[in-house]
Amino acid sequence: MGKDYQYDNQTVNGFIVSSIFWGVVGIVIGLWISIQMWAPSWNIAPYFTFGRLRAVHTNGLAFGLGLGAIFGIFYYIVMRLTKRPLLFPKLARYHLYLFNAAIALAAISLFAGMNQSLEYAELEWPLDLGVVILWVIFAVNIFGTIIKRKEEQMYISLWYIIATVVAVAVLYIVNNLSIPVTLTKSYHLFAGVNSANVQWWYGHNAVGFVFTTPILAMFYYFLPKSTGIPIYSHRLSIISFWSLVFAYLWTGAHHLVYTPLPDWIQTLAIVFTMFLIAPSWGSVVNGYYTVGADWSKMRTNYLTKFFILGITFYGLQTIQGPTQGLRIVSQLIHYTDWVPGHVHMGTMGWVTMTAAASIYYIIPKIYNTQIYSEKIANIHFWFVLVGQLIFSVTMWITGIQQGALWKATNPDGSLAYSFMEGLAKNYPYWQLRTLGGIIFTVGMLFFIYNIYMTIKRGNMASSKA
Ligand code: HEM
Ligand code: HEM
Repeated sequence: MGKDYQYDNQTVNGFIVSSIFWGVVGIVIGLWISIQMWAPSWNIAPYFTFGRLRAVHTNGLAFGLGLGAIFGIFYYIVMRLTKRPLLFPKLARYHLYLFNAAIALAAISLFAGMNQSLEYAELEWPLDLGVVILWVIFAVNIFGTIIKRKEEQMYISLWYIIATVVAVAVLYIVNNLSIPVTLTKSYHLFAGVNSANVQWWYGHNAVGFVFTTPILAMFYYFLPKSTGIPIYSHRLSIISFWSLVFAYLWTGAHHLVYTPLPDWIQTLAIVFTMFLIAPSWGSVVNGYYTVGADWSKMRTNYLTKFFILGITFYGLQTIQGPTQGLRIVSQLIHYTDWVPGHVHMGTMGWVTMTAAASIYYIIPKIYNTQIYSEKIANIHFWFVLVGQLIFSVTMWITGIQQGALWKATNPDGSLAYSFMEGLAKNYPYWQLRTLGGIIFTVGMLFFIYNIYMTIKRGNMASSKA
């Protein structure tokens, strides 16, 4: 039976295009700060120094590229899984405008040096209020559409979407409670070690509920859709979901190992951190077994490669992450470049690969056409893969080297290496990281070209999707 309504594809498209735009801004700034690390003259005072640009990079990519793609793709998925249009299509359009305004203002305020000094929560309080309004608009539409759904069954992606909407709201509000002093300055409501504890409860879960649950929602929806193979086990997906959301919220203090935070809180976080391997790998195994029904898809279907490599990096990262939480490992790698190595395996590997593959699936559907070039998509895949591997591997090596040099002592207890001696040894690795970043960026340019050409030859008005 044909459907008697039209999906709101324009808003989906608007978010995807915006996400790509902010992605370009964030990635260019990523390259810039990676150069600043070995060529300090690239710090152009005061607006474009590392301290300011770094926050524009992280916010631009986590919230501009990441959330932009998440909003658009969530609207796409929710409409299909509930078999109805959005409950408030106009509100979704306002959401799109507000989102772009918020990211633009966020970038400007960070360039100007306005910063709460809380990582991933840098924005000052007036912008926080804007973000809360934006999120409420989003939540009303998502929940309203799900409640009024025409399909009784709730597929696993909807559960991951609900978790994202609820968790980000709670985390963002609690960690941004602050006392405003002026329009552009405020102080965290919590002080000292409590402030650090709340911040990292938020910080780790921002990663969990922006870079994990929404990306899993995409993975579970688009892997079966693009391969035509049903997900291997619905039961496993549900068990993994509930255990993941339960465990995630207790792990933030693994960022504060060996700090004045009470020991028992650190240990509790480490225990939950170890446990997280299980639900994470529940999804990894589910993905492998799904494609296991026909591995030839890795050759014949260009999207399968993105999804399977993406989930592989997620799998590697969710072994590396819990290992990093252990005291014995943390004392070597904490504060070193190992951590950006960990981060970019996930962001450049898992997040951008899965989001890009989802966009490759959506754009031809809503423009009623085929992808412009599978060959270019394959080139995109290899560039992103190679660039990401160079980035992560060089950072792991330099991270271990830094940790070892900082800890080395002479027989009399003095430090064996001065700060400058240690710093100079990082340069070749930092230069290689820039090379990895350039290769990754070229890959993303192929992606953008492919999407642009697909949009150009398609026609949204004729879409039945
Ligand atoms: C061309 C690609 C990229 C380059 C060259 C790049 C470069 C960098 C650099 C130099 C840092 C600072 C590391 C430090 O403080 O020592 C950084 C941090 C960060 N980047 Fe990227 N990045 C890229 C892509 C991405 C992407 C695609 C994302 C997210 C989707 C991302 C998210 C982050 C995050 C979350 C951090 C903070 C890491 C931490 O605090 O440990 N980056 N990046
Ligand atoms: C089981 C899952 C994971 C666990 C247990 C875990 C654990 C950790 C730990 C312990 C750290 C702190 C390292 C340190 O500073 O000493 C860390 C940092 C980080 N992880 Fe993970 N990780 C996991 C998965 C992921 C995933 C999937 C992503 C997505 C990209 C991610 C992104 C990050 C980011 C952005 C940071 C840097 C935070 C900062 O200091 O700014 N992690 N992770």
